[in-house]
Amino acid sequence: MIRAVLYAVGLVPAAATFAMGLADRLGADPVNVFERTLGLWAIRFLILSLCVTPLRELAGINLLRYRRALGLLAFWYALFHVTVYVGLDQGFDGAVLLADITRRPFVILGMVAFLIVSVLAATSNAWSIRHLGRRWRAVHRMVYLAGLCAAVHFILSFKLLRVEPLLYAVVMAVLLLYRLLPGTVRRGRLAQR
Ligand code: HEM
Repeated sequence: MIRAVLYAVGLVPAAATFAMGLADRLGADPVNVFERTLGLWAIRFLILSLCVTPLRELAGINLLRYRRALGLLAFWYALFHVTVYVGLDQGFDGAVLLADITRRPFVILGMVAFLIVSVLAATSNAWSIRHLGRRWRAVHRMVYLAGLCAAVHFILSFKLLRVEPLLYAVVMAVLLLYRLLPGTVRRGRLAQR
């Protein structure tokens, strides 16, 4: 039930921005605003899904049962974001898309992040967990690589260096560094409480 509410609430920014677009309230470049809003929520949900483990280990707040929903919301937003890019931004122009995807580093990084979150979304079900066994964890650790690629993609999506994407990159780096701490140190903190 709470998970269904989480999906519904999580999709509100997409629906609201879409509705604003239909009402012609997204400014001079509505496609770019829509595309960027979807990308922003994709990286936000990616970060939220990565906060679940440190929150449990450091603060004793257990949101494990919502991690999958947060990860899937990140995937859906990334999919909408890419769809707007391919359809509305580039008008399904195969030649332009191919040139972008092979030559622009920021698009390549976005693609890598998107491919990873797609694999993670496809293998986030009970069947995959059972069949992949120990490999499932290894596959799902790639989420950190996706997070880093997405953060750099965000930084490079602007011509000039901006504070907001840098903050997202710092948060992503802290989450990765925390994950790289030896298990004994992290579990030790859990045991201390
Ligand atoms: C997990 C995957 C991805 C995430 C998390 C992501 C995230 C983002 C973010 C946060 C922004 C900037 C939003 C803002 O300015 O507020 C952005 C911009 C953008 N992204 Fe992505 N992105 C992803 C994948 C992709 C892919 C695969 C493509 C294209 C193939 C792409 C194309 C773009 C474009 C064209 C922009 C806007 C650049 C402009 O305004 O000129 N992204 N993305």
